[in-house]
Amino acid sequence: MAKKRTGAERAKPESPYQGESVRPLISSSEIQQKIRAMGQQIRADFPGEALLLVGVLKGAVLFLADLARQIPGEVTFDFIAVSSYGKDTKSSGQVKLNKDLDSSIEGKVVLVVEDILDTGLTLQYLLRVLQQRKPKSLKVAVLLDKKERRIADVRADYVGFVIPDEFVVGYGLDYGERYRNLPDVGVLSLAGPAH
Ligand code: IMP
Ligand code: MG
Repeated sequence: MAKKRTGAERAKPESPYQGESVRPLISSSEIQQKIRAMGQQIRADFPGEALLLVGVLKGAVLFLADLARQIPGEVTFDFIAVSSYGKDTKSSGQVKLNKDLDSSIEGKVVLVVEDILDTGLTLQYLLRVLQQRKPKSLKVAVLLDKKERRIADVRADYVGFVIPDEFVVGYGLDYGERYRNLPDVGVLSLAGPAH
């Protein structure tokens, strides 16, 4: 005879990782809708121009893949990887270039594609490096903007969603390399669900 389940056995974790849970914030359909509008706006701002999308590895990979498909006309990709010294959910302010672009950006219309703008220190460093290489123009698209956390004086030209100061994962964003594969963006809680 089957035994009755206890409450604890029935409780479903909200994430595959023990002690962690993810509260939904932005759904994948909201993300896709926003990206469609952004892609059209970008093309309207640069009619007839070849655009080079520079994706910041690894968080921006999913965003870049979807955004590129919403920009009609000539579009190419390149990728750059940076890391900030320090660990965990805090940005230290010191940035290191881990992988450079494959090709020159001189004279090109460049759009940096980044997952999230937080303190802005990463983007500030990146824009300084790229500007020295004399692109024809240098713009920035971010999916998420944590405006209230800004330290560096940088702004994105295209912003998907302004979000509150909470640590988010999903749609490319990670916590310790995990959660990038979630289709939605959610707020990570390390305490886990209350019981
Ligand atoms: P910033 O230099 O403080 O603007 O940090 C930018 C980088 O920090 C992003 O590219 C992300 O990799 C990471 N980051 C900042 N906030 C979050 C978050 O809420 N979730 C996941 N990664 C984040
Ligand atoms: Mg990251």
